[in-house]
Amino acid sequence: MTEPLTTSPALVPLTVRGDDRGSLIAIEGGRDIPFEIARVYYIFDTAPGVVRGLHAHYTLDQWLVCVNGHCIVTLDDGHIRRDVLMSQANVALPVGRMIWHEMRDFAPGTVLMVLASEHYREADYIRDYNAFLSAIRTR
Ligand code: TYD
Repeated sequence: MTEPLTTSPALVPLTVRGDDRGSLIAIEGGRDIPFEIARVYYIFDTAPGVVRGLHAHYTLDQWLVCVNGHCIVTLDDGHIRRDVLMSQANVALPVGRMIWHEMRDFAPGTVLMVLASEHYREADYIRDYNAFLSAIRTR
């Protein structure tokens, strides 16, 4: 059974190493993030009105960081849907396996970086919402 989402999905603070030259954030696999990072990808140049994501994963764990701009990430565990405003480079949003997620309302210049626990594998995707609901009910 999937654990229900908390009322406010936890944004994890990232340690900022700032000095008079500016800011730097380092994220080390297995240390700052609870899995080894197998893949990094980032979403940018998303046109207004576009909705991305619209899927869940069977086994992939991901952390999302909005390194520039802002967007809305919707998380759905099949019971509760929550919208999260991603607008700070110093927080990460964990998106666990079997969480339906959607990204929308990308401001111009937004860059959404994703740290992923596995290499890309299309068979890990659930792209049909009803199939997602069926999958979580049979777990
Ligand atoms: P897609 O999953 O549709 O992106 P989003 O979830 O943001 O809407 O991916 C877009 C394309 O990029 C699609 O052809 C698959 C490919 N892709 C990779 O090759 N590797 C990856 O790590 C990811 C995330 C996507």
